[in-house]
Amino acid sequence: MVKQVAKKNERVEEVFDLFIKHVKNFLQEAHLNHEEYTNFVNWADRLGRKGELPLFADVFLETHVLRAMYTDKPGTQPSLLGPYFIEGSPLIEAKDGKPLELTQRPDEAGEVMYFSGNVSSTDGKPLAKTRVEMWQNDASGKYSAFDSDAPRYNFRGHFFTDENGDFTVKTIVPLPYSIPTDGPTGEFLEYTEQHPMRPAHLHLMFEAEGHETLITQVFFEGDKWLETDVADGVRLDLMTTLEEKDGYKVSSLDFVMRKN
Ligand code: BEZ
Ligand code: FE
Repeated sequence: MVKQVAKKNERVEEVFDLFIKHVKNFLQEAHLNHEEYTNFVNWADRLGRKGELPLFADVFLETHVLRAMYTDKPGTQPSLLGPYFIEGSPLIEAKDGKPLELTQRPDEAGEVMYFSGNVSSTDGKPLAKTRVEMWQNDASGKYSAFDSDAPRYNFRGHFFTDENGDFTVKTIVPLPYSIPTDGPTGEFLEYTEQHPMRPAHLHLMFEAEGHETLITQVFFEGDKWLETDVADGVRLDLMTTLEEKDGYKVSSLDFVMRKN
């Protein structure tokens, strides 16, 4: 009897066949000529050489991957991981009875903000000891380890929810920012006459046993870039407000994780 040998990676074949099927339909509709094809290949080559492939994919594709995976599912909607996440952030712990503070320099510039949340499961139970990873830009709109001179883990850290699934962390209000425009991604934005701005956001990643990891962002009402976010990462249930309180800002949002 001949033994059936499983294909090395059937999933790659399945996805590639689908990709080609849709590319054929797309080309029939777009009537691409050979010069346009060559221009595209040269531009994509520059994109790769400049190391901008992850940036371009995160701006123009990641949101569609997420929408295809999660629209209509219960629980908090995921949003973009983006290109500015790095591994190895420090553990943040409460010191001297003070609230948790996202890693920052002494006298860090920016508007102080206390961000609070509750993490629960889709069955309604609070999720104690959930690992919360948080990262954001600084008062110059830059991310540590990328375009800023700040220490590698500035405005990056992780902590755990308390026994009720709650957390509060002291940070600063993040700023809207421009994605890099000096390379092939910027070239593409110019061709298509799009601005390069993302609305201000916090990045959050939640990990709890028995649940899907939730990677998402939090946005603030009133931001002028919400409706035209270049990366299309805004979702209605990720919106919060910034309230003034005794010289600092407070904001909050609750998160619901899906079971595995
Ligand atoms: C971000 O949220 O940091 C991001 C997402 C997609 C593209 C660029 C940046
Ligand atoms: Fe970001």
